[in-house]
Amino acid sequence: MERTRTESEKQYEYMEQMKQWVEKQSQKLGRPLTCHCTTFGCQMNEKDSEKLLGILETMGYQEIDSEEADFLLFNTCTVRENANTKLYGHLGQVKKMKERNPHMMIGLCGCMMQEPHVIEKIKESYPFVDIIFGTHNIFKLAELLKNRVDSGSMIVDIWKDTDQIVEDLPSDRKFSFKCGVNIMYGCNNFCSYCIVPYVRGRERSRKPEDILKEIRQVVSEGVKEVMLLGQNVNSYGKTLENPMTFAQLLKEVEKIDGLERIRFMTPHPKDLSDELIEVMAESDKICSHMHLPMQSGSTRLLKKMNRHYTKEQYLELAQKIKDRIPGVSFTTDIIVGFPGETEEDFEDTLDVVKKVGFDSAFTYVYSKRTGTPAAAMEDQVPPEVVKERFPRLLALLKETAAENCRKKLGAVERVLIEEVNTHEEGMVTGRLENNLLVHFKGNRDQIGTMANVRITEEKGFYYMGEQVNG
Ligand code: SAH
Ligand code: SF4
Ligand code: F3S
Repeated sequence: MERTRTESEKQYEYMEQMKQWVEKQSQKLGRPLTCHCTTFGCQMNEKDSEKLLGILETMGYQEIDSEEADFLLFNTCTVRENANTKLYGHLGQVKKMKERNPHMMIGLCGCMMQEPHVIEKIKESYPFVDIIFGTHNIFKLAELLKNRVDSGSMIVDIWKDTDQIVEDLPSDRKFSFKCGVNIMYGCNNFCSYCIVPYVRGRERSRKPEDILKEIRQVVSEGVKEVMLLGQNVNSYGKTLENPMTFAQLLKEVEKIDGLERIRFMTPHPKDLSDELIEVMAESDKICSHMHLPMQSGSTRLLKKMNRHYTKEQYLELAQKIKDRIPGVSFTTDIIVGFPGETEEDFEDTLDVVKKVGFDSAFTYVYSKRTGTPAAAMEDQVPPEVVKERFPRLLALLKETAAENCRKKLGAVERVLIEEVNTHEEGMVTGRLENNLLVHFKGNRDQIGTMANVRITEEKGFYYMGEQVNG
């Protein structure tokens, strides 16, 4: 506790020192210094970027919508190869920008930076980068920038792992009415295809009192919906001094006045407890939506993936949830082309999709990640086989999604109004509990409020509706 407080105080001092530097630079330029953060990857990274922007704004930077900024930060992802390729694409363009604006500073952080071969490549091919840090020390941004300004050379600071959680740093939320809240960091599951445990370190939970304090704070600022974030939220609390379950945490979050909606991501099927299902069933605020990554429907492959459940167990779990929470919507993550995937394995995946009837799914082509056990597995699936399977999965998902979408016709749903519709004047867009969007008549003043909306038309993956009173 003592150590944590000292760290955030220390960082505020760096922010103060950098503020003076930023002020001096703006006077020289005759305009404010600008910053921009480009984020790749999952909600964890989105949340980290909000914290990084919070630090930059405290230092006096003004956020802009373009990469032509005085400080440009890339928060990277490495879960699949194409995430890496994207970063290198951007860096090629940044090189030209920096030639035009030599005072521009470039920062790289996030999951990709935790891989030593990436750092080597950047030092060699992109020497114009100013600071590089990883996933464990984002709280040090001001300190690293200060070191960069003082030394005039590239700063690289990557930690292999950490047990430290630094609280009480600034954050610049992207939306005024909803936000992510970290409840835990890291992952201990080591699914055989996945790089996340190597780049995000060991699992550690935030203390419930810190989580609740943060949620109370954002709710007092107008937030209506929170998304509790962790790689495996079902194992929340195990590392705490006073252990607590995820379901118990949810019950505490539910008590916060003014909070309307609770979502969470991601629950691992192997650890999903009856207690959690019960708490969801009883709750007024937890959205009736379960994102439950299956990865594959084949018991044989699930074993090779180190997922610790079988096809039957997944199906039973889904059924149990449906029975206790009628109308619950299901979404999932699916990988096509995991090493050794046969036609029969793939058909098992299709079978689960059909039986559960997912509302939607994130579907991925298996991507080989260096250092993971699956990368060394023989019988990698040829791309042409994946190319043949992938559209079959998408076609089936389109059917299950459309079928679920139709079920809501005529129903009155509670929605959170998120934005004015850019295509049609006088319309707003709201989000249903199942995460789908509905467009209906409304105005800008309604953004961030809840409304009851009758679903009048379904469009396969979104709806049209009309607001009703009450
Ligand atoms: N912790 C979450 C997922 C984090 S990564 C969970 O366990 O569900 C998000 C998704 O990326 C995973 O669910 C998986 O479907 C996909 N993914 C991870 N590694 C991958 C790889 N090497 N190739 C393709 N997809 C992958
Ligand atoms: Fe990756 Fe598995 Fe951890 Fe999810 S649970 S982050 S898929 S290792
Ligand atoms: Fe997320 Fe990508 Fe990292 S999915 S945890 S940002 S590797």
